[in-house]
Amino acid sequence: MNYRHAFHAGNFADLVKHAALLWLLAQMQGDERSLQVIDTHGGAGLYDLRGPEARRSGEAEAGLMRLLAQTAPAPEMAALIAAVAEANGGKETILYPGSPWLIARTLRVGDRYDVFEMQPDEHARLSELMAGRPGVTTNCADGFAGAAGVMGTAARRLVLIDPPFERADDYERSCDLAAEALGRDPATTLLIWLPLKDLHTLDVFVRDLEDACEPAPLLIAEARMRPLGDPMKMNGCALALVNPPPGAQPVLQAICEAVVAGAQGGKAQVWPAG
Ligand SMILES: C[S@@+](CC[C@H](N)C(=O)[O-])C[C@H]1O[C@@H](n2cnc3c(N)ncnc32)[C@H](O)[C@@H]1O
Repeated sequence: MNYRHAFHAGNFADLVKHAALLWLLAQMQGDERSLQVIDTHGGAGLYDLRGPEARRSGEAEAGLMRLLAQTAPAPEMAALIAAVAEANGGKETILYPGSPWLIARTLRVGDRYDVFEMQPDEHARLSELMAGRPGVTTNCADGFAGAAGVMGTAARRLVLIDPPFERADDYERSCDLAAEALGRDPATTLLIWLPLKDLHTLDVFVRDLEDACEPAPLLIAEARMRPLGDPMKMNGCALALVNPPPGAQPVLQAICEAVVAGAQGGKAQVWPAG
């Protein structure tokens, strides 16, 4: 596997995913019920934007740094901007927090976070970052294969599926895991991140996911950074949100709009599938 998230940390796709994730966590922790979060593809958890990978790709410059430079960012991005400031101790922005860092800091007593990362060196960093945090378990293992085994007894469950999509079967395995999670608990909320290259791939995935999740409601949020003309490029990203909390559609729309703002030919759209 070649994928290293350090090249992509803080890019436009992370902004969409992480702003949506923070909103979901706030909604799902809005009452007394306990929450389990399962993160099938955790990465290292915290990324150094001065590192060679981030500097070589320039993706955080075009994503996070442009967001931070805005004088009046969208209110829907405020929680992510605050989290980035917290990760940097209120000082200069040199670190970008990944999903494990963002999730772990929200856990309440009785909440649980189970995170998978398959690459041993990435997992070693993740494990060090998460050490001593109550309710957190890191697993150096395949998240698609292991997620069902950690599904516990919490009142509510959120499953984040964020594969690199280097392998063609990442689409199919995401659908299979969604079906399995809903089989355990039909009220499970799932957030699946997808690259947006061409419409055909998105369309096929959405139809497969609808079949896998029926009758659970499903929202698709698209942040297109440019027209989907070249299927070899990542032209944008999408989120599939199964069992969305009330009010999700306008929030996702605002997040996608905030991220595509300024991109030539950019377009944001959120639509209910099915
Ligand atoms: C897109 S990154 C995850 C980013 C992270 N979710 C975040 O938002 O900060 C995908 C990660 O999944 C890991 N990975 C790839 N296949 C995996 C699998 N089957 N199970 C667990 N981890 C996997 C990669 O090593 C990589 O670190």
